[in-house]
Amino acid sequence: MKAFASDNYSGVHPEIMDALNHANTGHTGSYGADEITARTIKKFKALFGDEVEVFFVYNGTGANVLGLTAATQSYNAIICSELAHINVDESTAPEKFSGCKLIGIPTTNGKIYADQVENRIQRLGDQHHPQAKVISISQSTEYSTVYTAEEVKALSAVAKKYNMYLHMDGARISNAAVSLGQDFKTFTKDAGVDVLSFGGTKNGMMFGEAVVFFSTELSKQFAYIRKQGMQLHSKMRFISAQFEALLSNDLWKRNATHANQMAKRLEQALREVPQIKITQVVDGNGVFTIIPKEITEALQQEFYFYVWNDRTYECRLMCSFDTTEKEVDEFAEKAKALCSAL
Ligand SMILES: Cc1ncc(COP(=O)(O)O)c(C=O)c1O
Repeated sequence: MKAFASDNYSGVHPEIMDALNHANTGHTGSYGADEITARTIKKFKALFGDEVEVFFVYNGTGANVLGLTAATQSYNAIICSELAHINVDESTAPEKFSGCKLIGIPTTNGKIYADQVENRIQRLGDQHHPQAKVISISQSTEYSTVYTAEEVKALSAVAKKYNMYLHMDGARISNAAVSLGQDFKTFTKDAGVDVLSFGGTKNGMMFGEAVVFFSTELSKQFAYIRKQGMQLHSKMRFISAQFEALLSNDLWKRNATHANQMAKRLEQALREVPQIKITQVVDGNGVFTIIPKEITEALQQEFYFYVWNDRTYECRLMCSFDTTEKEVDEFAEKAKALCSAL
């Protein structure tokens, strides 16, 4: 079955598998006290600057929740899009671990903007009200759209104005970097992000994400927070080795470029089918589309994909590093054939 359901449906990139095999020799220090981890942290520092602090964790929920926990007290509020992964797809882990209230801002394209956020920052200093402390954005967004560095800077300016922090959920940060044609630093650290979840799993790794702190005041207690949050991997070298491979020979870029190109190809092919409507700008590796309800089931018998919104029947089609042109073309042809028979 061909899959457009999620970039998590894909397997592990062979270069990552090789790196895992390579790391699988002999004994070495545990919990990050090993050479591969030291080398990999240097790779992150080469991307973002020597002063950043990097911590590896198992998954994206863990990266987000613990990064947010480091930036907040339990009487704080976190402002995000109402579609944010932290708001709708991490159960209540952000609330449980950080203790904070999440304030979701309505969005039509997955992004939130500086003026909308500023409007929701209220009653600071009032002991009765949740105290807004973090703005959290996803890059790329849950709708596969991408914030420009200027949009991130505008959000950071609001955060600074109110003594808040800016968090970025970068589960798909490589897709965003490729889409913007910019290096990671330009739209994160240089744009005023304080803490970043840097994704690996959706871009060819087996598992593993990194929490990157640009503000060292936030990272000071993070080793304890990670352990308390059950995200400290004893055999750390096996997360580090995957990131080392991902950040070597431009693997992150090759994978994300391919996934984004497949999404563009899919978008173009579907635009030729009059009964199908593309609902979002295709910046990253996902295509959002309204496919006639009558054909969805037949299409789903051959291709995995999710109906993203039960009411509008908007569907999400995700491409990944291993999506082939053939799969894309076959999907578009099948959709076209089914539509023309309506
Ligand atoms: C925007 C976003 N953030 C974070 C995650 C990470 O989730 P997980 O905890 O499943 O690795 C995902 C995965 O679907 C995601 O789409």
